[in-house]
Amino acid sequence: MCGIVGYVGTEEASSILLEALRKLEYRGYDSAGIAMVDEKNELQVRKIKGRLSNLELLVQQKPIQGKCGIAHTRWATHGEPSDLNSHPHTDVSKSIAVVHNGIIENHAQLRTWLERHQVTFVSQTDSEVIAHLIDFHYNGDLLLAVTEAVKRLEGSYAIAVACKQHPEMLVVARKDSPLVIGRGASSTMLASDVPPLLCHTRKVQYLEDMEVATLTQDEVHIYNLDGDEIEREIQTIEWDMEAAEKCGYEHFMLKEICEQPKALRDTLRVRYKDGSLSFPTQVENLLVNCKHLLITGCGTAYHAAMVASYVIEQVAGLPVEVLVASELRYRLHIRKEGEVCLLISQSGETADTIASLRLLKELGVPTIALTNVVGCTLSREADWVLYTQAGPEIAVASTKAFTTQLLSLFTIAALVAKQERSALLEALELLPGKTQLLIDRQEDIQRFASSQFNKTKVFFMGRLVDFAISLESALKLKEISYTHSEAFAAGELKHGPIALVDTSTLVVALCTQPSLYAKMDSNIKEVKARGAAALVITFEDVHTFDDTADAIFRLPQTHPLFSPILSVIVSQLYAYYCAVLKGNDPDKPRNLAKSVTVE
Ligand code: AGP
Repeated sequence: MCGIVGYVGTEEASSILLEALRKLEYRGYDSAGIAMVDEKNELQVRKIKGRLSNLELLVQQKPIQGKCGIAHTRWATHGEPSDLNSHPHTDVSKSIAVVHNGIIENHAQLRTWLERHQVTFVSQTDSEVIAHLIDFHYNGDLLLAVTEAVKRLEGSYAIAVACKQHPEMLVVARKDSPLVIGRGASSTMLASDVPPLLCHTRKVQYLEDMEVATLTQDEVHIYNLDGDEIEREIQTIEWDMEAAEKCGYEHFMLKEICEQPKALRDTLRVRYKDGSLSFPTQVENLLVNCKHLLITGCGTAYHAAMVASYVIEQVAGLPVEVLVASELRYRLHIRKEGEVCLLISQSGETADTIASLRLLKELGVPTIALTNVVGCTLSREADWVLYTQAGPEIAVASTKAFTTQLLSLFTIAALVAKQERSALLEALELLPGKTQLLIDRQEDIQRFASSQFNKTKVFFMGRLVDFAISLESALKLKEISYTHSEAFAAGELKHGPIALVDTSTLVVALCTQPSLYAKMDSNIKEVKARGAAALVITFEDVHTFDDTADAIFRLPQTHPLFSPILSVIVSQLYAYYCAVLKGNDPDKPRNLAKSVTVE
């Protein structure tokens, strides 16, 4: 999604802003731009389609100077990627510049209304209306003009505004899109996410929905839309830049895959102390007394929810319903007695997950967020929050966030378990170490990927938790290698998908559920009979598939319900190496954004 940054301080802002945009590249973008108020109090704008290097070149050719500015990476929604559609957008007189992340849903009506007031538009974007609206309301008071303008916006926005009449001030506003303010010693910054702020400060303030703020070098004042000033606590970010840097790895994705043993240990340490589970008392009460657990999320987070549903139902006999958040928010929700909802999101900013949270809160369902980002929207709005300790996840394809979500969900399963609790806890403690054993064998997966990366069709199949991991594996592979990959519940193969299987197909069979080995073996034989190659992922001491599979990848032994944390690492590494072998950048896959803050 789009990324916005801003700086006001004592230093030349252009290199700071360009560097800050680099730290937001992971969000996905197709164009970039910068606006600055220069020493003559004129507004300078440079913007261009394509990568950030294009903008850097443009700024070299046509330098831009000043100590107060805003910048943007655009992920096109309204209007194709082009120089004109890039942000910042300005008003007609080029006094006001705006960067925007979000979608203005009533932009067409506002555009018609503004055109009736002699405004000429230059872009096809929804965002341009914001600059003209601010100008329409501007009467010497920028804060007031922004406040009046945002009152007329429907949809989602995080905006930053620079104005030549106010050369030492930026104004920001937000609704349903993230915006963090960084408080430096002699500067103030803003950004869509924390990493761009970290080279300057760890002190941050989060702007809430329907708030506006003025930012100057030394001061930040936050107001509601009625103009009342609001006190906002300054928080300290605990993690440092190193956590958000590649540290010698070729890609963030590989670094994040390899960080999983530590991320899992850190996550377990919070939930499991001195031999017992540790949850906030109210969360523990809610979960233990829950009669119906609803779990939701999008993409990878949804797959974590799916895994959890099998595990929790199995060990606790508790009914678990799993719904993808983009559906949940629109379907009729019939509240069940004793219902609790768990909402999973790495970023805590996913639009559909937040909308589902708000719907459930309106219905009076107690909500618990499971997220990786301290202070994110989901954490602030849910009744309760549990954090994963994955550290910043920069690569678009989620890896360590997923396995730490799984681990957290497994601790919940152990908490509500009616059987096997000590066996589960014992297995949980050993899991981080077992993931390290797998990561140490990444060359085996690299070798397999180098013989298979050109396959045009890859199908993953499994049953129960293995089906959930098949979905996650297929998602990972398609996201970064652009290979057509699908996942099937193995028993469903005969009901249709087997028609697609031929000699060009690789089938990856996940086989970690002992009671279903024989069934899986039959499924593998069926696809092999149609010419497919079969890779089996199973535990180290299983020999059921020795005569059936073309290749077998063996996982260290663990409790079969916890196999997803191990099997998915094989798929993550397979997807990573396929992407690299195909010449793709796994950190920035085409068309995708890290955090989907718009619908
Ligand atoms: C994962 O690889 C994806 N990039 C995507 O499916 C992601 O998990 C989804 O957009 C949800 O994001 P969230 O966890 O930040 O809510």
